[in-house]
Amino acid sequence: MAKILVTGGLGYIGSHTVVELVAAGYEPIIVDDLSNSNVKILDQLSRIIGFKPAFYQFDLCDMQKLNEFIAVEPEIDGIIHFAAFKAVGESVRNPLKYYRNNFYSLLNLLEVYKTKTINFVFSSSCTVYGQPDELPVTENAPVKMAESPYGNTKQIAEEILRDAITAGEAQKVIALRYFNPVGAHDTALIGELPNGVPQNLVPFITQTAIGKREKITVFGNNYNTKDGSCVRDYIHVVDLAKAHVAALRLMENEGFKGYDVFNLGTGNGNTVLEIIAAFENTTGVRLNYEIGPRREGDVEKVWGDVTKSTNKLHWQAQLGIDIMMSSAWEWEKYIAENPL
Ligand code: UD1
Repeated sequence: MAKILVTGGLGYIGSHTVVELVAAGYEPIIVDDLSNSNVKILDQLSRIIGFKPAFYQFDLCDMQKLNEFIAVEPEIDGIIHFAAFKAVGESVRNPLKYYRNNFYSLLNLLEVYKTKTINFVFSSSCTVYGQPDELPVTENAPVKMAESPYGNTKQIAEEILRDAITAGEAQKVIALRYFNPVGAHDTALIGELPNGVPQNLVPFITQTAIGKREKITVFGNNYNTKDGSCVRDYIHVVDLAKAHVAALRLMENEGFKGYDVFNLGTGNGNTVLEIIAAFENTTGVRLNYEIGPRREGDVEKVWGDVTKSTNKLHWQAQLGIDIMMSSAWEWEKYIAENPL
């Protein structure tokens, strides 16, 4: 059974990917420093997959700890590198914290596995496109000047990986550019656990619906979109998780060489107001919302062209907006009744 190191494996996307790895016959080895995750997710995972996955708690920026880990887990076949800081606003306030964490962890991993043949999957983001000139945006669209240090860590990390491949310091790398991951596992045992006040739309919606927040503000209704609110390509986290398995499978092919990058979206865009309506319709819960000013740094509209992922990764998103909303809501209710 191929062993896959899943960094950040107790986080939102990481935990869902652990489930899909097991379903596909891989053995996940989780490394997580718990800086933005909860160790109880390990128990939740074991309730889904039937056993407790291997787990090591340490910070990948600590090279000594990483070497100790390699001494006890020498046989790793692939890495899915989720572990990173991801709060856009915080990255603007504390850029050095973001650059230090997101780069040291990546560089340490690349360094220690330099001489081994490892298939490497990197979590990138559609944020690298900024406001694309053409929609849907393809992987060939130019990378735009980053709006935040967080976004810059994704852009530069992609360059680091490409350079490492060119120089033979890494063998096979796939960068996955996520659009907007939402929703939760259908067991409602794992999902997104925002730290403090959620910055992202769907956790804010579900927390408002359950009464943790008084109301949700729609950031702007005067954009050049069908109803004036911003458009994003929302994708179910379980679909997204499955794409990581597809990326590993692709790299296992003899024919795959070097570096490649794929969009992970549905290919469709929805406005903020459409998402609110979809939540209300699927759950029957009315949301208290208001229209507010635009949020600084937001792009007007972005959705992905998924032709390349469909053809080369042999992967496509299956789950629609309704399941995204209902699963997010089931998870919010679960966590209200069973706080971790
Ligand atoms: C944001 C980041 C993106 C990052 C991603 C990671 C910015 C500009 N972009 O994506 O780089 O990869 O998070 O999670 O921060 N909205 C509201 N009210 C709210 C919250 C959000 O109207 O309370 C709107 C936003 O204006 C946006 C949409 O909902 O149009 C989605 O917002 P969000 O979930 O924060 O994701 P992004 O901004 O697309």
